[in-house]
Amino acid sequence: MTQTPALSQGRTYLAIPGPSVMPDAVLQAMHRPSPNIYDGALIDMMPDLTRDLRRVARTGHDVAIYIANGHGTWEAALSNVIAPGETVLAPASGRFTHGWAEMAEGIGAKVQLIDFGTSSAWDLDRIADALRADKGQQIKAVLAVHVDTSSSIRNDIPALRKLLNDLDHPALLMADCIASLGCDRFEMDEWGVDVTVTACQKGLMTPAGTGFVFFNDKAQAKRAAMPRVSRYWDWQPRANPDLFYQYFDGTAPTHHLYGLRAALDLIHAEGIEQVWARHERLATAIWAACETWAEGGALHLNVADRARRSHAVTALRLTGGRGTALRAFTEHQLGLTLGIGLGMEDYDSCFRLGHMGHVNGQMVMAMLGGMETAMTALDIPRGKGALEAAAAVLAA
Ligand SMILES: Cc1ncc(COP(=O)(O)O)c(C=O)c1O
Repeated sequence: MTQTPALSQGRTYLAIPGPSVMPDAVLQAMHRPSPNIYDGALIDMMPDLTRDLRRVARTGHDVAIYIANGHGTWEAALSNVIAPGETVLAPASGRFTHGWAEMAEGIGAKVQLIDFGTSSAWDLDRIADALRADKGQQIKAVLAVHVDTSSSIRNDIPALRKLLNDLDHPALLMADCIASLGCDRFEMDEWGVDVTVTACQKGLMTPAGTGFVFFNDKAQAKRAAMPRVSRYWDWQPRANPDLFYQYFDGTAPTHHLYGLRAALDLIHAEGIEQVWARHERLATAIWAACETWAEGGALHLNVADRARRSHAVTALRLTGGRGTALRAFTEHQLGLTLGIGLGMEDYDSCFRLGHMGHVNGQMVMAMLGGMETAMTALDIPRGKGALEAAAAVLAA
């Protein structure tokens, strides 16, 4: 008897919400011998590299680069502005705010957490209540996760800034745009963000391992008033190095820097506004397909309100714990890897689509086609015409 063949040979597609697909230009830029770290091209490229990083974050302020993932930049940012015993406010729309809050507790901060669950964006009235109740202005920072990758909620950072201004509350606005930088519109200076943390393996399309903390003058004033800051996390020498090694407090992440250079070139050649527009269009096509499938009653989008959905990741549920089965099918039969459900109680039902960074229309249609195939194989009831709905968005 002939066995049903697995169809997973060929170029596979990692469609998880980070690390994201790396462009060939990034891979090729890294394929080289170790450079001299004391003199020459690597050192010469740093001023333009930091300038171009700031352009992506839309800030004229300083940036410190760390050999660290997102967790590292969380701790780096906190260590520069929050002293033990100080309070931070953490409005949570998913697992990642909890993670940042735990990091704050780890450095001795008091955390006031407002939990909005895993399917709702911030309720600004509740945040306002917490800030109003803070009569002595004990809250020194608000930990604001722009896009929570676990829930795919995109929170309204400008509205939070307005709230802080309206209440005349001096807390620093600290934004995590690890999932949104280079995908969703993010404007550090225009939105009045004081500290931005991000990492390189999502919209910045490079291998995990470098992270960035951008900070403005208000944040720097708080840093200057700190009794002490951990030597390694201190952002001051990194942002204003007299010597090359001070950027990294030691040996530079040499190949990451070459990869990052290539990624920034791609972003700026396309234009950041165009990068955001591409992500929005691709996300809208994905939603059109998912909303059509959802008519069958088995598939659900985690975030109901389109205005609060990320353009870089979409969290979904398949009733009856069939998300895990769907992922297994797409990965083992088709060569398409989808993201696990993260921080959700119904782990086996939840899964996520990553559509961040180096993605285009044909990749999104392939991902949706893979899902359609898996749902056919698993006999999952669904609305008809999902791929047509997505195609209509891309064709428009
Ligand atoms: C929004 C957000 N914050 C923080 C992190 C943590 O980053 P890392 O896994 O690089 O430590 C992630 C990772 O997915 C994330 O999506």
